[in-house]
Amino acid sequence: MHPPANTRLFEEKYLRFQSEAGARFRAASGGSVPNGWTTVEQAEWMAATVGLAPGERLLDLGAGRGWPGELIAQHTGAQLLSVDVPIEALRQGRARMREALGARVWQVCGDGRALPIGDGHFSAVCHTDVLC
Ligand SMILES: C[S@@+](CC[C@H](N)C(=O)[O-])C[C@H]1O[C@@H](n2cnc3c(N)ncnc32)[C@H](O)[C@@H]1O
Repeated sequence: MHPPANTRLFEEKYLRFQSEAGARFRAASGGSVPNGWTTVEQAEWMAATVGLAPGERLLDLGAGRGWPGELIAQHTGAQLLSVDVPIEALRQGRARMREALGARVWQVCGDGRALPIGDGHFSAVCHTDVLC
């Protein structure tokens, strides 16, 4: 399977986009820097309603720098697999996610359409602003 057509566009966007709005959001979210429109309130609502118990597995597809999976994993105690295509997005989120979640987080550079993961491996999946 070929990489998604927008891979290069997103790679460049992650390299360029370091806005002041992003810095303000980082302060409100406890560290995360989104590349989408999902608010802190919406992410908190997901964490409160998803029903994840500590140690269960959450898959965040198209996670960019780790939003909103990082917040959901922080609030629930879940383990997190954070997946996206541009390696630059993962690189920018790596240190912060490690600090927030320690050994509970893994990042994978891959295409969400073709992950070698069997049924039933995750208790929940999130993907925000990915179908764009
Ligand atoms: C608008 S951004 C949202 C990123 C993050 N969820 C957030 O809210 O900050 C959309 C993301 O989806 C990713 N994406 C698009 N197609 C994908 C695919 N097939 N597999 C994995 N990620 C994909 C893009 O690389 C991009 O990082």
